[in-house]
Amino acid sequence: MKRDIISVLDMQNDLEDILALAQRMKKKEADGPIHSLKGKTMGMIFEKPSLRTRVSFEIGFYQLGGNAIYISPNEVQVGKRESVHDVAKVISRYVDVIMYRAFSNEIMKQLAEHATVPVVNGLDDIEHPCQCAADLLTILEHKGDLKGRKLTYIGDGNNVCNSLLLGCAVVGMDMNVACPEGYEPDPAILDKANSIAAGNSCKMQVVNDPETAVEGADAIYTDTWVSMGDEAQKAERERIFAPYQVNNALLSKAKSDVIVLHCLPAHRGQEITDEVMDGPHSVVFDEAENRMHAQKAILVTILGDPSVYD
Ligand code: CP
Ligand code: NVA
Repeated sequence: MKRDIISVLDMQNDLEDILALAQRMKKKEADGPIHSLKGKTMGMIFEKPSLRTRVSFEIGFYQLGGNAIYISPNEVQVGKRESVHDVAKVISRYVDVIMYRAFSNEIMKQLAEHATVPVVNGLDDIEHPCQCAADLLTILEHKGDLKGRKLTYIGDGNNVCNSLLLGCAVVGMDMNVACPEGYEPDPAILDKANSIAAGNSCKMQVVNDPETAVEGADAIYTDTWVSMGDEAQKAERERIFAPYQVNNALLSKAKSDVIVLHCLPAHRGQEITDEVMDGPHSVVFDEAENRMHAQKAILVTILGDPSVYD
């Protein structure tokens, strides 16, 4: 049976195995590429712009011995030029896996339902699961463990925040979200994260005050105030989110060895200052690199044989 990765919950039972595999793959591949997905093909459908997702998936798949093709926002137009059903059926006849960056989580799920090959979510309006896997891999590498750690997310309760809530709950990390009223994470996701956290000795909290939220944090995370699709609210959001900037003053309230993450692209001077992005706590470029490693581990898990890397 095919295995889709639409939500972090699709990795609920083996997220830590995937992170461990990513670490093993990084080590093993230091001596040269291992073509464990030789001859496989991936179709990458993008409805929105991308640097990291496009390049990390394409290069990562190439490193595994496969071939990926990029399908730009002007081409397929899922559900517009052609029905979601027909796109899913047709592309499934050509490729072994579909990576899809979509405006709508609903369309993402429909594509996965009709495709006969696995669909991997490269971001939609509700989740960004591959980003979350890369983020947890980065925290694991910098801190040595995940369970019992605390991540504080500052800003918009968006797709990235939603996936982090699920990811932290699954690996047993506490997560604080500090956001303005009205910009909280998705309530269904928060409920799900809370119920997983309750069985995993960790806690999710959503508050409004960034300063108290970062107390005791091992990692601080932020993302854009204006996600793709929210552009019409740009001016309003920039005003409302102004007190939610990750700057040195805020960092001074966290642990002295706190690390700072950002999925990127960053809007320097808005959600994060230059001094933090370029400062000693920042791990944002390791995090960007880890997109590729985490995704390679996901692709080997759903399409190949992870034991090749034992
Ligand atoms: N973090 C991330 O997904 O970046 P891109 O939008 O450039 O792919
Ligand atoms: N929340 C952002 C993430 C970009 C990688 C967006 O959806 O635009």
